Amino acid sequence: MPFEILEKQELVPTIYLMKISAPRVAKKAQPGQFVILRINEKGERIPLTIADFDREEGTITMIFQTVGKTTAHLASLRAGDELLNFIGPLGNPAHIQKEGTVVLVGGGVGVAPIFPQTRAFYEAGNRVISIIGARSANLLLWEDRMRAVSHELYITTDDGTKGHHGFVTDIVKRLLEDGVNIDRVVAIGPPVMMRAVAGVTRPFNVKTIVSLNSIMVDGTGMCGACRVLVGNETKFACVDGSEFDAHLVDFTLLMNRLAVYQPEEKIALERYKCEREGCLC
Ligand code: FES
Repeated sequence: MPFEILEKQELVPTIYLMKISAPRVAKKAQPGQFVILRINEKGERIPLTIADFDREEGTITMIFQTVGKTTAHLASLRAGDELLNFIGPLGNPAHIQKEGTVVLVGGGVGVAPIFPQTRAFYEAGNRVISIIGARSANLLLWEDRMRAVSHELYITTDDGTKGHHGFVTDIVKRLLEDGVNIDRVVAIGPPVMMRAVAGVTRPFNVKTIVSLNSIMVDGTGMCGACRVLVGNETKFACVDGSEFDAHLVDFTLLMNRLAVYQPEEKIALERYKCEREGCLC
């Protein structure tokens, strides 16, 4: 059964929003879960985190960045086009409950998956402090949406074009050093950012959760592609996560495994661009 694209827009350069008609997935979707999609019969399977869902409308919204062939192909599709497969919701829902003060940290495209969690923590009665960051102001995602579900919102940009000139970790550190009583930190973004957040919160012994975006194939615990090391135990991000205790994650292994197919990814992307542009090289 094909899944219709109802909406597609480029939110900021290289980052796209796509709303898909998928009533069965939307019916069960929870913050923290993901889907695996395939564009067509020759397409690879890619996991994308659910950024939003509407059960009544029967839709799932995803935000993705063009990083390889499949995401470039996805970005070329338009409203009215269809995806061949759209499987989900997969993974475990985020652990949302009333804890007190929760700090939600989203870096780059990681702001998209942190949004439904921020909203859920807000609706569960927590005091919500959000920190969103990007390389530059024009790459900042969903400031308005995040502000609407946060008691405090901090913005950081690497180049200082908006908010704090620096990194999201600077704000986390400042809050902790100022004695803000934080019950939980949730960070989603590039692995290097999540590792840095874990490094900041560890000395303060603040529970810190990250969502691991390891390579996935089946998304159901059978292939082992998404293997991660957490507290010296092998876990599968797709069925054991994707949330894990940040202080126990082996981020070096995660980053090494994410880099394994980069040369092939680069070749596939170049070939795809050549095919699209009719280049004869
Ligand atoms: S994606 Fe295959 S085991 Fe997780």
